[in-house]
Amino acid sequence: MLKIKNLHASIDGAVILKGIDLEIKPGEIHAIMGPNGAGKSTLAKVLAGDPSYEILSGEVLFQQTNILELEPEERSHLGLFISFQYPIEIPGISNLQFLHAAYNAKQKALEHPLISEDAFHQLLMEKLELLEMKEEFAKRNLNEGFSGGEKKRNEILQMAVLNPLMAILDETDSGLDIDAMRVVACGVKRLFSPEKGLLLITHYQRLLDYIRPHIVHVMIDGQIVKSGTHKLAAELEEKGYDWLEEEVKA
Ligand SMILES: Nc1ncnc2c1ncn2[C@@H]1O[C@H](COP(=O)(O)OP(=O)(O)O)[C@@H](O)[C@H]1O
Ligand SMILES: [Mg+2]
Repeated sequence: MLKIKNLHASIDGAVILKGIDLEIKPGEIHAIMGPNGAGKSTLAKVLAGDPSYEILSGEVLFQQTNILELEPEERSHLGLFISFQYPIEIPGISNLQFLHAAYNAKQKALEHPLISEDAFHQLLMEKLELLEMKEEFAKRNLNEGFSGGEKKRNEILQMAVLNPLMAILDETDSGLDIDAMRVVACGVKRLFSPEKGLLLITHYQRLLDYIRPHIVHVMIDGQIVKSGTHKLAAELEEKGYDWLEEEVKA
């Protein structure tokens, strides 16, 4: 469903992604771990279509379409969802308005009927319940004054509303206390199904105790240097990344 081939990308002349290869099939949950500065968020932003990055070479196929040629919203309409490590705040737009607009934009792109604000409100209430979020969340301005944990939950709410085929979650666990993480992890798990794909980007193993990935990859200096089972995540938690960095240099 998602196939990344030999992807190289740079920002402001600095090459950050140095040949990423990754394939995620339907029903699979993958995790990318790695030290700070490895390029994990860069990968998420490149896949989302952030124009700050230059693609130097490589290919990204999502549902057999080369998405590197598509606008961010076209990627989203194809069913790709990416949550960011640092979600933006948009004052003056309520969550309800924003999510309704995003939902209808997708409906329109897929030539499905648009839904009214009332009907959308109903849909949103169901999703709020799924994520154990308060109703007032819908009325608040998008991420404005939200705590770190609330922003993360809000990203998962967006994901629940858009019901993507493939979700990439960048450090969704950071800034969440243990209870919030359990709720978010359970929500993400409930939204997953065998026709979908999921990529969790995380610095810590904690989240992976709740959502067990089929495959764990380690990214160091813009490359995936090792892939394995969830046991690799436990090993990294115990030993850190240094031993792998040494191994890569050797
Ligand atoms: N504008 C920029 N110019 C040069 N290097 C940058 C720029 N923005 C980010 N980087 C570098 O890209 C690298 C990867 O960052 P990032 O993808 O956020 O890593 P991670 O998410 O794995 O911690 C870092 O070393 C960072 O310093
Ligand atoms: Mg990051």
